[in-house]
Amino acid sequence: MTAFSDVAGSLTSSKPIINLLRGSALPSSPLPSDEYPAAKERICITGGASQNLACLLQVFTDPVYTRNIWIVSPSYMLAFRIFDDSGFAKKLRAVPEDDEGIDIDFLKREISKSEESAQDEGNDAPQFKKDRPWGKIYKHVIYAVPTFSNPSSKTMSLRRREDLVRVAREYDALIITDDVYDFLQWSSNPNPCQPSLEHAILPRVVDVDRYLDGGAERDGADGFGNAASNGSFSKICGPGLRTGWVEGTEKLAHGISQTGSSRSGGAPSQLSATIVAETLETGELQRHVYETLQPSYGQRYHTMIAAIHEHLVPLGVRLPQADRDMVGGYFIWLTLPGSVRGQVVAQRAREEENVIVAPGNSRSCRRRNALRVCFAWEEERMLAEGIERLASVIRSLLEEEQQQQRGDESAQRRTGHEDQNQEDFW
Ligand SMILES: Cc1ncc(COP(=O)(O)O)c(C=O)c1O
Repeated sequence: MTAFSDVAGSLTSSKPIINLLRGSALPSSPLPSDEYPAAKERICITGGASQNLACLLQVFTDPVYTRNIWIVSPSYMLAFRIFDDSGFAKKLRAVPEDDEGIDIDFLKREISKSEESAQDEGNDAPQFKKDRPWGKIYKHVIYAVPTFSNPSSKTMSLRRREDLVRVAREYDALIITDDVYDFLQWSSNPNPCQPSLEHAILPRVVDVDRYLDGGAERDGADGFGNAASNGSFSKICGPGLRTGWVEGTEKLAHGISQTGSSRSGGAPSQLSATIVAETLETGELQRHVYETLQPSYGQRYHTMIAAIHEHLVPLGVRLPQADRDMVGGYFIWLTLPGSVRGQVVAQRAREEENVIVAPGNSRSCRRRNALRVCFAWEEERMLAEGIERLASVIRSLLEEEQQQQRGDESAQRRTGHEDQNQEDFW
């Protein structure tokens, strides 16, 4: 039985998705292009990345035996509740990233400590999920958004992707990546010779797991692999469709098709998936991505980034991965100057300038000095003005900071004491 014969509706929708993915093959990919990304048995239709994250946890984790969920920080905030719902509220661990992506040394160190404690506690078998032929229970889960991340807007380098797969194999971890922005890409050059980009900039983590050191089906491996790629039509067609796909090994795709709710109810997104399949078969969706979304989001991105360079960078605001050739997604992540706090900027921007931005210090990351701005939502003509307004908020906070410092210095001269509460000023 394949993943598709089990779940009604999937077969008709999976072929066009495979063609879409194949069309996005990276020419320099280590996989031959006719093998990229895979046969239909490696894909299962889902109800979108969020729904399928829940399904992956249902089938492939156990709230006791699975030691930790390792989350690249900053991370997509709404995934947290999904982990909570599966019993992992106390097992979530943040993993920092640098300009190249996830901090592998940190991850290795912490995951090996986690393994030591699991061994000390005698945590050596799943407690709640019995042995099922279509599934396995992983010891760890690693969650990441490697390409044009939400919220950090970064792309993880190939070297880090490969290191990440090696760590996952060593520690029996399932890497779940939300690859939901991969198709929304364009050149960082505002006047590129090639306006639309149909090829992926890097192999996804699931592709790396397929080719690295003999791949997921190498000798001695159990064949489930260590990576699951959550694709979605939310960002390229419409979030209301609630349709996506997951790619992994054949065994993993089959396992996900066996999620209890899909066995009972059928494919999670049967009607929408059939409609999406039609738009893929006619090529309408591909045209929409390459001829409408990429050029218009790219245009908005370039308008916003030009305004950031003009108004925010002179104030000391910093951008991640400033020397990239390819950019994409929905967001730009800004690191604020001085001790300006994202929370305060977000609040004042909303109240005083009618500008909505997301502060970094939510539960997702604790980056008190960071902000996420979105170029995908607003009309292009509004974007430069929005950044100018944001600049005026940051400028006035910097001025207040300087005034405060001057006041503190003179008070210090008077009292000879340092103000311990400086950090809390914002
Ligand atoms: C990283 C990430 N994952 C998942 C989603 C949601 O995807 P879906 O609509 O397919 O559930 C989003 C949307 O904001 C996202 O940014």
